[in-house]
Amino acid sequence: MKFDSPATQNPIDQLKVVGQPLDRIDGPMKTSGMAPYAYERHDVAPKAVYGYVVGSAIAKGRINGIDQSLAKAAPGVLAIVTADNAGKLGKGKYNTARLLGGPSVDHYHQAIALVVAETFEQARAAAQLLRVDYARSEGRFDLAGAKASPAERTDDKNKTVGDFASAFAAAPVQLDQTYTTPDQSHAMMEPHATTAMWKGDRLTLWTSNQMVAWTTADLASTLGIPKEKIHLMSPFVGGGFGSKLFLRADALLAALGARAVKRPVKVTLQRPLISNNTTHRPATIQRVRLGATRDGTFTAIGHEAWSGNLKGGEPEDAVQQTQLLYAGANRLTGTRLAMLDLPEGNAMRAPGEAPGLMALEIAIDEMAERLQMDPIELRVRNDTQVDPAKPERSFSERRLIECLRTGAREFGWSQRSARPAQRREGPWWIGVGMAAGIRNNLVQKSAARVHLAGSGVLTVETDMTDIGTGSYTIIAQTAAEMMGLPIDKVVVRLGDSTFPVSSGSGGQWGANSSTAGVYAACTTLRNAILQRAGLPAEGATFADGAVQSGGRSVSLVQVVGERGLGVEDVMEYGDLDKRYQQSTFSAHFVEVAVDAYTAEMRVRRMLAVCAAGRILNPKSARSQVIGAMTMGVGAALMEELSVDKRLGFFVNHDLAGYEVPVHSDIPHQQVIFLDEADAISSPMKAKGVGELGLCGVGAAVANAVYNATGVRVRDYPVTLDKLIGRMPPTSAA
Ligand code: MOS
Repeated sequence: MKFDSPATQNPIDQLKVVGQPLDRIDGPMKTSGMAPYAYERHDVAPKAVYGYVVGSAIAKGRINGIDQSLAKAAPGVLAIVTADNAGKLGKGKYNTARLLGGPSVDHYHQAIALVVAETFEQARAAAQLLRVDYARSEGRFDLAGAKASPAERTDDKNKTVGDFASAFAAAPVQLDQTYTTPDQSHAMMEPHATTAMWKGDRLTLWTSNQMVAWTTADLASTLGIPKEKIHLMSPFVGGGFGSKLFLRADALLAALGARAVKRPVKVTLQRPLISNNTTHRPATIQRVRLGATRDGTFTAIGHEAWSGNLKGGEPEDAVQQTQLLYAGANRLTGTRLAMLDLPEGNAMRAPGEAPGLMALEIAIDEMAERLQMDPIELRVRNDTQVDPAKPERSFSERRLIECLRTGAREFGWSQRSARPAQRREGPWWIGVGMAAGIRNNLVQKSAARVHLAGSGVLTVETDMTDIGTGSYTIIAQTAAEMMGLPIDKVVVRLGDSTFPVSSGSGGQWGANSSTAGVYAACTTLRNAILQRAGLPAEGATFADGAVQSGGRSVSLVQVVGERGLGVEDVMEYGDLDKRYQQSTFSAHFVEVAVDAYTAEMRVRRMLAVCAAGRILNPKSARSQVIGAMTMGVGAALMEELSVDKRLGFFVNHDLAGYEVPVHSDIPHQQVIFLDEADAISSPMKAKGVGELGLCGVGAAVANAVYNATGVRVRDYPVTLDKLIGRMPPTSAA
């Protein structure tokens, strides 16, 4: 099925099941511990043994040799896999050969060996007995240094509209500021984990991964086997945030280990390995230049972002939102990439926009102050209903102004003092801040298979994943709505490489795209049922387990008979995403309290207003947004992978040193979804919220801290050491 013209009225619009705040259908399994995660497949992979990943102790250089004699003689050890005995590994699409290092080492904690033993403890103990002889070489670990020396950079990319330089120089009001965001870790709850088992030349893998088809294909090409020989399952994922989009060391090494010992092997990345072994959100240095007339109309918008990566890696595209968020005739956006020898930078929730908005939306706050304008009015004045670079291309839906106005009203924005450091409650300075958010809506091809059994149970199968987002539930809601069945008659099976290929979970495209694939399959099933029943398709309705058409009503069970009826279909997209700019929008509001003496910061209130198309399930969507708001508080106030610039690694590589918000850090969070259905996006008329919820939050917090104290911090995270000594004088109470 091809979606190439705006959606008309369709069965989803009934909103009997879709759009309802239903509990998660997988909730009881998860809360009772019955949902099988990848490391727990004792049921299907009995007598599994354990692999322990050894990470490189140097960031750059070579391994001269590994003395394995002590480790091999240790109790329980079955095999030691290294680059020497792993066989030739293919590069995959995403440079997967790097998942097992040696003899050359590309980054700290790159896997260099897997020790397989009867128990986890034996594998871990034996791993300590490996004697690795390293030859360390010089590496590049300092982004600021690389920025200062253009020779260290490659891949400078610019996008320009009009004449930025002249317009900026001529602007009556200017802002030119630099902001930094640190390296960040996904810090998802479930570590990367895999259980692998070979039967002859066929590999079965239970793994924790967001993208089943990508990862199956990459594992096949890395191992040099046909992908049909791999059965990969990822039915439950304990968080991903982008760290599980690709094949990682746990899956590859579990497969290699299981092949070596001819038994099932389980591998999890121990928590202290994850930050340096896997990917992270790269640090950025961002220069924002804004030029405006005195009435607050932008005439020049410039945003450049420097970031680093390993050879072959991409820059963090922290400027993409700046191409779309505000009007302005003259524009310059650019990314500059430095080659660094730190671990690989890659996608983390709202890659690009999340750190980009952390800079841009402080800059807008600063500009509003310079113009003596309310920051909401400044944003409203510079709203655009078209892509500023291509005015013929309008947004499919853009209700940013309504997000801003609704938020202002709900939050009580009119109570705010534009002058900072005006409101005091006991020892606390109180301030409020806000920011706008944008994240694009991407649509992806997605397939599903549906089968209606004679029992009246409808089974949906697709390789879509549920990474804690609610995929199981919204897919069941979609199928129930389409077929006129109660939700408890729908069984959803996900995350299996033998199922039709879905969009997978990434880029906040999963909810809309995967349900659109289910819509396609159910449309085909409806047609097959009508045909078999001999009913006219025109005006047919499916409700209460029956189909009604041409004045006749037949129960679905009767039509499909004892053998049932199954079909498969795929939703593909034409060029609507080229003809229209599809994006989602938000406004974030935050109130903070800052201790006048210690600069301790507490978030007291948060509000997000989101315009993101049809909300398929307000309960799971709200959970996505409050989780993202929490992550935004982490980004604003806590999260930072600290770089050792001499040795080239992230020092605070566990959850003791890498701080994320806990429950007591987070106040009541309010989420409002505007009532919207975007007919350009898909027949579901939905978009995405999972990443939108994070976009802008960090800046809203930083702006609130400024409003409370008058201290403008441009280097995230906003920690108390950056405030102390700069706060307004305060007399003892
Ligand atoms: Mo997302 S960062 O594409 O999982």
